[in-house]
Amino acid sequence: MSITNTRYVNHYNTSGSIDNNRNAVSKILTVGIATLDIINIVDRYPREDEKMRAMDQRVSRGGNAANTACVLSQYGHDIDFAGVIVDEPDGHRIEQDMLGNQIGLSFCQRVDCGKMPTSYITLNTDNASRTIVNYRDLPEYSVESFKQIPLQEFDWIHFEGRNIEHTIKMIRHARKHINNKVISVEIEKDRPGIDALMPLADVLMIPGAQVRRRGFTDPYLYFDHIRPQAPTATLITTWGAEGAFGRDTNNMDYHCPAVPPDKVIDTIGAGDTFNAALINAFSSGLTLEESLSHACEIAGKKVGQLGFDNLV
Ligand code: FRU
Repeated sequence: MSITNTRYVNHYNTSGSIDNNRNAVSKILTVGIATLDIINIVDRYPREDEKMRAMDQRVSRGGNAANTACVLSQYGHDIDFAGVIVDEPDGHRIEQDMLGNQIGLSFCQRVDCGKMPTSYITLNTDNASRTIVNYRDLPEYSVESFKQIPLQEFDWIHFEGRNIEHTIKMIRHARKHINNKVISVEIEKDRPGIDALMPLADVLMIPGAQVRRRGFTDPYLYFDHIRPQAPTATLITTWGAEGAFGRDTNNMDYHCPAVPPDKVIDTIGAGDTFNAALINAFSSGLTLEESLSHACEIAGKKVGQLGFDNLV
């Protein structure tokens, strides 16, 4: 499925006619992790070996694919999350949260021993930075579990770029079983071999922080750099206060400015929210330019509030 700046034929309209119904409900699957986020809110970043008291604490569901699912669900889409859920109190808490957000969990892999991944997050109100230390000791979501999913039912499948070898197998399996549906991949972390996911995606979402870590200060030069590896993908990158950039499959470039809130309060999951808003916009038939603009607006709203409630 190629996404250009021309409004595209809604991929799940099997009649083949153009459907520009912007409020259409899509069936979307997100594949990745759910975590327990323990967020200490502080008014400055602690010094090493210091003891300090947090101003406040929040405990919430986290994880890129889980957060993206949660925001997508707010648009009224029919959302499923595929990841690992452990039968222990934190697993139950995350499960309740996601079910409460109308996210289907029937394709999750259930594990009866071990512990849900936990993120210890320091959210600094001084500059809204969020420093995350994640602990995980859990098998990754398996290809076997993924193969049980009736993929033909879905309009869009979104993968978190992790567990590379298995994710490649999952995407290849998906390609065999779904025709003309969209597969998006988020490349957030520097995991060995992660670029092997690039040729497999229709939409590639790469946070600006990752682009900069790779030594690029110009998003368009980075798009030039990865285009040979991802010849058929729409390329997207977020660029903090400068908004977001996209290159479509005809190599047309677009930029949308950020929509900052009056005060930046909570940047946790801003990228996950941006991705959700982007998927919603594309699957509702908006152009790349319109989709970038919508995603910047919702990501801006997200960073202006604590958590993910009522973003849409
Ligand atoms: C934010 C987030 C957190 C989670 C961490 C996992 O993007 O998904 O909710 O703890 O990243 O990497």
